[in-house]
Amino acid sequence: MGLMSEIQKAAEIIQEGGLVAFPTETVYGLGADALNPYAVARIFEVKNRPQFDPLIVHVADMRQAEILALKFPEKALRLIEKFWPGPLTVVLQKAAIVPDIVTSSLPTVAIRVPNHPMALELIRESGRPIAAPSANPFGGVSPTTAEHVRQSLGGKIDMILDGGPCLVGVESTVISFVGKEPVLLRPGGVSLEEIQAIIGKVEIHTSAVDKPLAPGQLDHHYAPRTPLILDDSLESLPEGKKIGLLAFQKPKTSYTFAAIEILSEKGDLKEAAANLFAALRRLDEKNLDLIVAHPVPHAGLGRAINDRLYKASRK
Ligand code: TXA
Ligand code: MG
Repeated sequence: MGLMSEIQKAAEIIQEGGLVAFPTETVYGLGADALNPYAVARIFEVKNRPQFDPLIVHVADMRQAEILALKFPEKALRLIEKFWPGPLTVVLQKAAIVPDIVTSSLPTVAIRVPNHPMALELIRESGRPIAAPSANPFGGVSPTTAEHVRQSLGGKIDMILDGGPCLVGVESTVISFVGKEPVLLRPGGVSLEEIQAIIGKVEIHTSAVDKPLAPGQLDHHYAPRTPLILDDSLESLPEGKKIGLLAFQKPKTSYTFAAIEILSEKGDLKEAAANLFAALRRLDEKNLDLIVAHPVPHAGLGRAINDRLYKASRK
């Protein structure tokens, strides 16, 4: 089948209320017609996702976004102007047309325009806004290839569109504009610094964002099956255990690890983000007793990476 007819077929599945996994620049999404509550209900079922966890609605452009929200505050518009299509999700007051199941009955809706040609084609071809969480069972590691999706959700969904590996590799930045000040709800593919450069002050919601080693209240896990700890010293590791290391660059350590994944030899956070979830999966397949993750520098995309590692360690 040609690429176009693949996307046409996927678009028909969406129109008929089915589920299609599709690539975005961040991670693969598990999509359904956002305006069809029955289709959206299947997403929760297939992912085993709790109903209180709302979904992001993906649209092709600002015109389609306008249908879903009551108003776009000026600061939201400035970010949208700069970062759409791209890994920026804005939370706004929702329009009545958005079903409650999409937003977990919140009066708000999360919206983004993904920066991936296949995702955009799928949305345009189906003519529907597409609700999509990451295409993994709830709590697990997000998929950055079609193969990752096949492994965990393969038999349970109607189609998987293969667009190759995701270039950004961590999920979108989620920022809310429903309160007085903008609030960063999840660090992601657009960095806090980039956002602050456009709109100034931003409140930070998660305790994990700026204190990756401190405990906090968390709703998401991004976790492998193997226990994972964050450790920035690599000094007192237990003997006689099969331990895998997830390092940013080449580690300074004399410990003999059973497996090592290096996120970026040259110390590039962008490359590290793109490699993160696939590296976690490879370590998870090695039957290790423990994965030790070394935090990355806590700036730019590093905040999103540390946030995911921290959450993985809290499972
Ligand atoms: O990059 C991404 O954002 C990927 C791709 C597929 O677009 N999607 C993704 O979806 O990461 P998911 O479901 O794994 O994460 C959605 C996040 C959750 O943290 C959820 O709580 C938040 O967005 N969210 C969704 N709707 C919200 C709302 N109305 N208010 C506050 N947070 C919301
Ligand atoms: Mg997810």
